[in-house]
Amino acid sequence: MAAAPTTLVTGIGELTTNDDERGRMRDAALVLEGERIAWVGAAADAPDADARVDVEGRAVLPGWVDSHTHLVFAGDRTAEFEARMAGAAYAAGGIAATVEATRAASDEALAATIDRLADEMLRGGTTAFETKTGYGLTVEDEARSAALAGRRADAVTYLGAHLVPPDWRGGAETYVDLVVGDMLDAVAPHVEAIDVFCERGAFDEPQSRRVLEAGRERGLALRVHGNQLGPGPGVRLAVELGAASVDHVAFLDDEEVAMLADSWQGGTGTVATVLPACDLSTRMPLAPARRLLDAGAVIAIATNCNPGTSYTTSMAFCVATAVLQMGLTIEEAVRAATLGGAIALGRDGEAPADGAEPARLPLGRIRPGARADLQVLEAPSITHLAYRPGVPLTRGVWRAGERML
Ligand code: NIG
Repeated sequence: MAAAPTTLVTGIGELTTNDDERGRMRDAALVLEGERIAWVGAAADAPDADARVDVEGRAVLPGWVDSHTHLVFAGDRTAEFEARMAGAAYAAGGIAATVEATRAASDEALAATIDRLADEMLRGGTTAFETKTGYGLTVEDEARSAALAGRRADAVTYLGAHLVPPDWRGGAETYVDLVVGDMLDAVAPHVEAIDVFCERGAFDEPQSRRVLEAGRERGLALRVHGNQLGPGPGVRLAVELGAASVDHVAFLDDEEVAMLADSWQGGTGTVATVLPACDLSTRMPLAPARRLLDAGAVIAIATNCNPGTSYTTSMAFCVATAVLQMGLTIEEAVRAATLGGAIALGRDGEAPADGAEPARLPLGRIRPGARADLQVLEAPSITHLAYRPGVPLTRGVWRAGERML
């Protein structure tokens, strides 16, 4: 087999690697070989390569890993947003409007929306993302949502337990029967994780447990939407069942914070995913990211892009908010938005041996063997992401070794 072409990236003023050995480097260089990173080191030691790109002193960091989005939808909820900004409270029932529009949309229309948002993400530096079903809520609509999502997403999650659909004839229990029965059968081939909206007005603790246990039996990773709109059982359940992540986490008591931290003692734990744009757009308190980190929890930052609570693809906005309003350092915020997302998706591991499927290469770090996902900033350092909030700083993007921007 012919060797993959190599590219030497030079002139890196600051390289954020998320690699404990290398940290944040000055005057660095790296070599891309096919889909992977082959070498990282001081510019002075850089080897030869087939091609060379000089980034002229700019900062380079891993591409964003957006581990929580809902891109399979149709319709618009501007009026609901305006009402919220005028003082109305967010209620889970808004989901129903998107369900109706999504069911009525053609496959082509749904695919076009996913493409539009995935392209927008890439232009903003996001090189890997997860997305969920959850606006179909029939067997057919959930299965097609999952299949369409898989065309672009790095990871697809099944969220049939988003809401009991308003046209469901029967109680929540019989809907959960469907979610863990025929719907799961239809969706399982397209997804790697299962999720449940465990919240007052959506699914209660026993119903959420049923959903998660059914997913676990199928070998799916577990995710929970928990503690978003008020205190609730989501975090406890997620940790008890060994979920990969619990997302939102705006309302946490000290015991729940400690539980999330302790979940990492002696192995893989549950990532606490904070969604700052959603907290702002729903006028909820910002998730206690500082407290979580201080306690020793592992956090991810994600956009939660969806038409109801967080219609943004901008990880840079979320990172700036995490620094300006949630008390994180820029390094902590960038780590949470790259490596944190990779951990939540179970994609932070060691590089597989040569010949392994490129789609499974590790994400979130710049080190040999990782997927060659990088972004170049129009700035000398990552600090500018918070120092110049709202400015589109992503100047260059490589995804799996391919130059996208
Ligand atoms: O993550 N919390 C539940 N699901 C979405 C909201 C979806 C909607 O309102 O359309 C979220 O915020």
